[in-house]
Amino acid sequence: MAVELKDGVYWVGVVDWNIKKFHGHEYSTHRGTTYNAYLIVDEKTALVDTVWGPYSQELINNIEKITDIKKIDYVIANHAEVDHSGGLPEVMKYIPDTTVVVSERGQESIFKHHHRRWNFKTVKTGDSISLGENKLVFVTAPMLHWPDSMFTYLTGKNILMPNDAFGMHYASAGRFNDEVDETEVYQEAIKFYANILTPFSELVIKKIDEFKKLNIPVDIIAPSHGIIWRKDPMQIVNKYYEWASGKSDDSTVIIYDTMWNATEKMAHAIAQGLAEEGMKFKLFNMAVCDRNDVLTEIFKARGILIGSPTLNNGLLPTIKPILEDLKGLKFRNKVGAAFGSYGWSGENVKCIEQNFERAKIKKLQEGIKVKWQPTKEELEKCVEFGRNFAISLKGCE
Ligand code: FEO
Repeated sequence: MAVELKDGVYWVGVVDWNIKKFHGHEYSTHRGTTYNAYLIVDEKTALVDTVWGPYSQELINNIEKITDIKKIDYVIANHAEVDHSGGLPEVMKYIPDTTVVVSERGQESIFKHHHRRWNFKTVKTGDSISLGENKLVFVTAPMLHWPDSMFTYLTGKNILMPNDAFGMHYASAGRFNDEVDETEVYQEAIKFYANILTPFSELVIKKIDEFKKLNIPVDIIAPSHGIIWRKDPMQIVNKYYEWASGKSDDSTVIIYDTMWNATEKMAHAIAQGLAEEGMKFKLFNMAVCDRNDVLTEIFKARGILIGSPTLNNGLLPTIKPILEDLKGLKFRNKVGAAFGSYGWSGENVKCIEQNFERAKIKKLQEGIKVKWQPTKEELEKCVEFGRNFAISLKGCE
């Protein structure tokens, strides 16, 4: 299927309804995804991005619905990651001498993914290629999502194709934001930002500022995943600005795991304390919850309470991956505290607090530990712990 964005500009991508794990098994995609590629037919013809390799033939079929694939004059590879460049080898079989436009970093990364010396043309910010009536203008966007990433803008049609930026993993029947459930779209867009782009938030702000200064009209933002922003396209740019600035709501996320329910009882007592102070919270047992979904909730909240019993002088293995993520994703302006039960050595709270330090999460109060199963009095202390956390969080800048 091909879908027209504007006269002479077509979506020729693929909807992948069934993918439930992305980046190998690193990222959950409960709502599937799309690999968006765009075909521009002017005096010259350009293909902007391809699709993941297994879907190459579907891309080629879509192109052939609009034009003979051999008529493509330029292939723009905004980003080397194989969900976008995976279709290049099949496409290039038809047009082996066609120019492949890449950023300077893209020349290396595209080559190192496919090991083929196509006819590369490197571009940098401000460079352009005339297609006839309109031209393609390029803006490099390093780390959105890889060092090679760039945006492509089509003059005349005022379409920005920013690859991963402003996208989301979301399969849908409609291609445009005015044709789908906006709440679902935003759930997936913030998950994408929280799990993939937060380490680069400073660069996001700089890139948006730089782009806004160009003062160019934008009618459509057409990312490489999910829906195309046609209705009020700048809404997602403004959302990115807000997300990148580290704003969060005054709520708290409690994550924990438990062996014989002692730490779970503590988690619920602490939650009661938060509730008594009117603090909104969400509670997740990491043994049964999706890591990427929980990270998204942590991204949205200001407070994070982490609980684990002590196991082998450390923490339960289900807690460790998310601690590693918190270090790597570099969420801003978070405050936290630790809790958990223990039997003899009791390193759990210290271990969680060390991880707060690594992730630059401010420790809001000393952690709380209970030996073996909590007594009624110890659970009351956990309630008080929750109350104190809520009061401190409300008072902190
Ligand atoms: Fe959708 Fe960074 O690839």
